[in-house]
Amino acid sequence: MNERHSIVRSVGAYLPARILTNDELAKMVDTSDEWIVQRTGIRQRHIAAEGENTSDLAAAAGRKALENAGVGIEDIDLIIVATTTPDMTFPATATLVQQKLGMHHGAAFDLQAVCSGFVFAVATADSYLKNNLARRVLVIGAETFSRILDWTDRTTCVLFGDGAGAVVMELGKEGPPERGVLASSLRSDGRHWNKLYTDGGPSSTRSMGLVRMEGKEVFKHAVGMITDVVHNVLDAAGYGIDDLDWFVPHQANKRIIDGAGVKLGIPPEKVVVTVDRHANTSAASVPLALSTAVADGRIKRGDLVMIEAMGGGFTWGASLIRW
Ligand code: COA
Repeated sequence: MNERHSIVRSVGAYLPARILTNDELAKMVDTSDEWIVQRTGIRQRHIAAEGENTSDLAAAAGRKALENAGVGIEDIDLIIVATTTPDMTFPATATLVQQKLGMHHGAAFDLQAVCSGFVFAVATADSYLKNNLARRVLVIGAETFSRILDWTDRTTCVLFGDGAGAVVMELGKEGPPERGVLASSLRSDGRHWNKLYTDGGPSSTRSMGLVRMEGKEVFKHAVGMITDVVHNVLDAAGYGIDDLDWFVPHQANKRIIDGAGVKLGIPPEKVVVTVDRHANTSAASVPLALSTAVADGRIKRGDLVMIEAMGGGFTWGASLIRW
């Protein structure tokens, strides 16, 4: 097979300095560290400082990914920012990141698929590269979810956090796919929109709205949707579950991650988990987890890595990457 594959050249991440623990949350709403840890696996989350916006987090993660790739912003010709929490309704946060990184050429746009945003953005960048619409892409997942939480609603405010992660993607050499995005599967089903949504927006309420969720309903669908796309991707690429070196799932809830791992038959030691420290950072969760596992030496060149996410819409998707 001589098809060219888009490779992931580097990863970078940024987390705001402020850490909010479960014990601190218990002083704000009627909850406890014990309840949150038992139901979600979350122990703490990072919260962006006042005046620190999604574009700041995204630019910081982007800079790190560029540094780790050994390339400059002049070598990038497309920036995709996956986010649900843009600085403004418009312009796209990606254009603000473009300005902050000093890029005056190429193109930049946002992608909205909520928690699945990064996986959708990787598949999008892969298509742009393969179709010669870009040479090298900075793909970022960045969120300040703390800004759209109802801090009086204990059923949602304990679950989310802020952060950003980024990868540099480029087209690999011609020849057998030694590295790169081997296959992706993207799905959505708008019949489920009202299970996880914001109760407002520019067009409907002229405001941004806050997160509302039917937690049990989300939980009920999550594992099945995740396992479906993972199997689709493995089938498309001609691999089996046992070939995977690492499973890097969306970090929403430890019980969903464990449930998916068990249903797929992936041993826990191959699953990257950061939800305990980051909580659910929506579109940032997968690149943050990738960054953690690359930085600590778990994910190495040549490893077979499955990324996966599921979120509001519902949207869900997976990509298989030879690192
Ligand atoms: N602290 C303490 N008690 C809480 C609580 C909190 N933060 N949040 C809810 N409760 C209470 C409920 O009010 C309920 O009390 P009641 O029995 O007196 O009515 C009880 O805990 C059980 O609530 P329930 O909603 O049945 O809990 P659950 O086991 O379904 O867990 C979630 C709740 C949100 C943790 C779980 O449904 C979940 O993880 N869903 C998926 C959410 C998710 O990941 N969304 C993002 C996807 S991208």
